[in-house]
Amino acid sequence: MEEKKAYKCEDDILCGVNRPKDVANMTDFEKKHIPVISAPDKVKRDEEFDVKIEVGKIVSHPNEAGHFIQWVELYSGDTFLTRAYFNGGSSYPEVTFRVKLSHSHGFLKAWAMCNLHGLWQAEKPIEIE
Ligand SMILES: [Fe+2]
Repeated sequence: MEEKKAYKCEDDILCGVNRPKDVANMTDFEKKHIPVISAPDKVKRDEEFDVKIEVGKIVSHPNEAGHFIQWVELYSGDTFLTRAYFNGGSSYPEVTFRVKLSHSHGFLKAWAMCNLHGLWQAEKPIEIE
């Protein structure tokens, strides 16, 4: 009789949030999906600044009806800031958001959703003075 393998979320790409297993040695698959956050290291409280998020910057991700990045979200810590949608084929997962922060959570967080490969997360430290 075949024994059933215990289900583990970390073995399922569609369960939970995916992060690179080893940031210094990412696989091409991880590089395709991880959002890249470009933002200042330090900003002034309540002063507007730009945050750019790109998916597929390191290794290009497919952008077609059957396989594409559906959306990206930007957070300050775990506080939601904004979201952008893409259609798979004619819009690209590269977006710049203008935001301001009234207090620090210590880092910006981006989530990117691939329609086939689930949710991917990146973080970038940011200081508020
Ligand atoms: Fe994908």
